[in-house]
Amino acid sequence: MRAIDRVDELGQQMPEIMVTPPGPKSRALSLRMARVECPSFEARREARVATSGHDHAPIVYARGRGSNVTDVDGNRYVDLTAGFGALAFGYNDPEVASEVFAQDYALSMALGDVYAADCKAPLLEALAALYPEEGARVLLGGSGADAVTAALKTAMLATGKPGIVAFKGSYHGLSHGPLAACGLSSKFRDPFFGQLNQNVQFLDYPASELSLSLEQLRSALRSGNVGAVLVEPVLGRGGCIAVSEGFWAAARSACDEGGALLIADEVWTGIGRSGSMLASVASAGRPDVVCLGKALGGGWPISAMIGREGVMNAWAKHGGAAIHTSTHAAHPSGVVAALTVLRKVLREDWVTRNRQLGDRFVEALRREVGRDVASISARGLMVGVRVPGAPRALAVSRKLLMDGYIVLTGGEAGDVLTFTPAFNTNATLLDAAAAALGRALA
Ligand SMILES: Cc1ncc(COP(=O)(O)O)c(C=O)c1O
Repeated sequence: MRAIDRVDELGQQMPEIMVTPPGPKSRALSLRMARVECPSFEARREARVATSGHDHAPIVYARGRGSNVTDVDGNRYVDLTAGFGALAFGYNDPEVASEVFAQDYALSMALGDVYAADCKAPLLEALAALYPEEGARVLLGGSGADAVTAALKTAMLATGKPGIVAFKGSYHGLSHGPLAACGLSSKFRDPFFGQLNQNVQFLDYPASELSLSLEQLRSALRSGNVGAVLVEPVLGRGGCIAVSEGFWAAARSACDEGGALLIADEVWTGIGRSGSMLASVASAGRPDVVCLGKALGGGWPISAMIGREGVMNAWAKHGGAAIHTSTHAAHPSGVVAALTVLRKVLREDWVTRNRQLGDRFVEALRREVGRDVASISARGLMVGVRVPGAPRALAVSRKLLMDGYIVLTGGEAGDVLTFTPAFNTNATLLDAAAAALGRALA
């Protein structure tokens, strides 16, 4: 059997819609949540209704297995988002879940950076080994934003310079450090402007016109106060667009000349999703720091920042305090989840499989909808389908939900349908999803 044909039958079923989504139980639970939850999410729902003219009441999940999720009304969906890209092996992967449950029984909490759980040592070693040079050091965290915050702090410690170069369309999380560098939309930054790092320059994402982007980068670095150049190898929320071939090598020399750290935010691309273990390194990149999250924990919350030895040494020179840690950092469940995901990805070569399956999905999409959409961009299992405008994207995502397929919209203009399925989804489900997209666009 070729790797691409490997199918876990459980959790790979076609959608089954019993009541029009959202059913009455989903509606009732959503209403209860809306009454007591932060009103930001309800405000977003209302804005989506206004933009698209469609109902955007949410479904509420009850169970998940593999690529399937079942809502509280008994509707079964195919989740083409894999929990914002976090569920490397889908919901409740038997191997990951059983390792985590065993860990929970053995030791459910440690003192992460003081008295660590025994499983932390092999994870740190496995993560350091992903970096292309000897001597790399690792800092574990709880979220992608946490990893990016740690990377930005590394840049400050190692260079003494507070400035950041970030890119339009990029997203690095919403805690204050990464928020200042959020190029996806100023809507995220504006309400908090006064609290954010003011030394951020946003350049055009280097997806086309590489020479122009590099000229902008060199010029930004000449300003003298830039300590970090923060790049997503493929824009995740920004619509699944990859940097141009040749970017990483050129950015490396620009950063060396400008005295800045090159930070690869691989929170979305990393651990094989992009069809490479690390997209930046696979493109001959030598980032000083790599951020991981999402798929690393296979659905359990854990993130990591991996840094080159030379720059990480800066952390030891600042007063003998643990200056970046948190209560749940290196939590044993997340650590074991990450170890299991990493071992599984390497043992069974999911990286190659993701590349092949992603390419095959793109072929199916081109066949089904190629003529009806503005563009299809992809890298491994990160696939973006651009349609004319955000209202259309929202309407199509809603039609897909009605048909039993869960997708998100993204892109700077909100006009991209983004597909980031679980690694162990299969070609049959993706063919069916492409056909469903054809129906939704019709
Ligand atoms: C590239 C990238 N970096 C960082 C983050 C932030 O991760 P988290 O939401 O876990 O804080 C995200 C989240 O979508 C992301 O896509």
